[in-house]
Amino acid sequence: MTLSLIAAVSDDGFISTGKGVPWDLPDDRAHFRQYTAGGFLLVGRTTYQEMIGWFTDHRPIILSRDHAFRPEPGHHRVPTVPLALLYAQQEKAQELIVCGGAQTYAAAMPLANKLIVTRVHDRLGEGIAFPPIDPQRWIETSRIEHPADSCHAHAMTFLTYQSQPQRRRRA
Ligand SMILES: NC(=O)c1ccc[n+]([C@@H]2O[C@H](COP(=O)([O-])OP(=O)(O)OC[C@H]3O[C@@H](n4cnc5c(N)ncnc54)[C@H](OP(=O)(O)O)[C@@H]3O)[C@@H](O)[C@H]2O)c1
Repeated sequence: MTLSLIAAVSDDGFISTGKGVPWDLPDDRAHFRQYTAGGFLLVGRTTYQEMIGWFTDHRPIILSRDHAFRPEPGHHRVPTVPLALLYAQQEKAQELIVCGGAQTYAAAMPLANKLIVTRVHDRLGEGIAFPPIDPQRWIETSRIEHPADSCHAHAMTFLTYQSQPQRRRRA
């Protein structure tokens, strides 16, 4: 089972100013929608509440310690990342895609084996950060450049990384 993290991250490592995703980048939205289509998605409770109404054919799993929290019908709450993986496995998922936010990325990163990162060539200076991408553990496997244009205020780089557990053990 693949555990992936998908995120848009500024050059200085932020995913949000604290008031939501700060960029309007249609081709990144399309990339996110295409990658996640029909997928099992792990979403932190804060991000889930921002995304209500966005889900269509997805299978959202919400990370929350709050036993009283009731997601939308058909969506599922879990209190830990390992229980999210177990649930997805039981549901015959091939991949669980972690869609944020920062606390959820941080909780899932140690167990993940794939990162799908849109590096947005902008600097926020401060905000909510993506966990550091350890070069001893993660190897870049694909890179596509996207220039700024009339619809995109910032250039972007679409990156994929795979986890290298053997490298991590030798380090
Ligand atoms: N740029 C991007 O790609 C991107 C993607 C997604 C989100 N974002 C942004 O990220 C921000 C939200 O991030 P965030 O870090 O504040 O919130 P978050 O990760 O979306 O949700 C936090 C909540 O998830 C639950 N949680 C977190 N870690 C947990 C753990 N280890 N075990 C059990 N439950 C856990 C807790 O819910 P309870 O309090 O209910 O226990 C916690 O309050 C928003 O601004 C959003 O727009 C950006």
